[in-house]
Amino acid sequence: MSKLNDAINEQYNYEIESAYIYVSMAHYVEEKGMSGFANFFKKQAKEELEHAAKFSDYLFSIDEKPTLEQIPQPQTDFGNFTETFKAAYEHEKEVTARINKLYDLSVEENDHKATSMLQWYIDEQVEEEDTFRTLIEQLERINESWAGLYLLDEKLGHR
Ligand SMILES: [Fe+2]
Repeated sequence: MSKLNDAINEQYNYEIESAYIYVSMAHYVEEKGMSGFANFFKKQAKEELEHAAKFSDYLFSIDEKPTLEQIPQPQTDFGNFTETFKAAYEHEKEVTARINKLYDLSVEENDHKATSMLQWYIDEQVEEEDTFRTLIEQLERINESWAGLYLLDEKLGHR
């Protein structure tokens, strides 16, 4: 595999790791009785698996076989609800940084098909970061009050 395709395979694994982290966040909030928040994180985990699948589909389409690596055990305690969403936001920023690096590498290597494929992820990350930023803004106003938390939990149950 080329250096770029190796890095794409690494990101394939990182998307699966992201799903694993969001499942852990779902468990964390579910245990605290917030099923709407849990629903949100479970959906987020599903999206991460879709992001992963897009990378493996791409690798197969250029006749490369993706490799699965060991996934580290995720954190199990994320602090209060606001801190949990902040941890998710920080994670998304890390994903964005990694996607940007991949994009740069594809440009360096003049791999136009990879650049084109990665464009989708660049746009997707803008949405992901916006989702979390908006939720954190709401959570900061709620300031961990149960009334506000239950309203938001209800809303995220229908996401
Ligand atoms: Fe992702």
